[in-house]
Amino acid sequence: MKDIKIFACNTAEKFTQEVCNCLNLKMGEKDSYKFKNDNNFVQFKESVRNQDVYLIQTTEVPVNERIMELLITIDAAKRAAAKRITVVLPYFIYSRTDKKDQPRVPITSKLIAKLIETAGADRVITCDLHNSAIQAFFEIGCDRLTGSYLLADYFKKKKLKDMVVVATDAGSSKKAYKYSKLLNCPMALIDKRRSNNDDKAVAANIIGDVKDKTALILDDEISTGGTLIEAINICKNHGAKEIYAGATHGIFAGDAIERLDKSCAKEVVVTNTIPIDDNKKIDKIKVISIAPLFAEAIRRINEGQPLGDLFLYEK
Ligand code: R5P
Repeated sequence: MKDIKIFACNTAEKFTQEVCNCLNLKMGEKDSYKFKNDNNFVQFKESVRNQDVYLIQTTEVPVNERIMELLITIDAAKRAAAKRITVVLPYFIYSRTDKKDQPRVPITSKLIAKLIETAGADRVITCDLHNSAIQAFFEIGCDRLTGSYLLADYFKKKKLKDMVVVATDAGSSKKAYKYSKLLNCPMALIDKRRSNNDDKAVAANIIGDVKDKTALILDDEISTGGTLIEAINICKNHGAKEIYAGATHGIFAGDAIERLDKSCAKEVVVTNTIPIDDNKKIDKIKVISIAPLFAEAIRRINEGQPLGDLFLYEK
């Protein structure tokens, strides 16, 4: 690889180190701290002039702080004459606010895209967007990786019997269909409704057969866990023998962990797009690393090679 430097924004050091280890590269050095007046400050401790720079930011709570750190870091790299700045955002925050589906509401994911672009990024690499149309919110290139192969592979290796992939709502049905193809099993679909903006989802019905089967509930993200718990319960009530769950992004907001721990799911598998606090780690939750996939995307971009087979196309 040529003229490449990879830096971590504040809380992304662990993930970035993993990416650098995969590529046999030393993580770039930079300083970042806060002044007493709460203003953030960033300084690269090595030259980035004419370099292919990758800025990795994970977006755990407080997310607004994370986005500001990222914008300031992009600005610093741009002013230090980086040749190309690629922002690596394993989880794209505000991705659920992606349309004007009610009066007087924002499209915050578009705003975030604009901010990243305005700060000076040339390209973005992200993963399993809540809505793939978010890619079009960027005028710059946006590469959308997927955790699907990783999750499908994990469950394939478990050799679960009589598997049925369960989509948590109509929006995730296309993805569930792809999982069912990857895992060579049937699928079922939950009729999920959200009545307002209070994070509460209700599973009204299930279309498809889960009776005496191993239900594998797959989604893009687990936030409050409401959707997943509803899905687990409806699968149980419809006679599923065992229930597993998987998602690319494990946000685990509020008391999601406690509720999942009490649920009858056998295992909940997520990737490490969002770092999980030690106090949130329980036996039922298994985290698999997606850092090698990001490392591979970075290597290919730097070497000018195609990324196509790292995406899950709508074939
Ligand atoms: C929704 O459309 C998504 O695919 C997820 O189902 C949702 O973001 C999960 O959120 P929560 O865990 O808060 O129900």
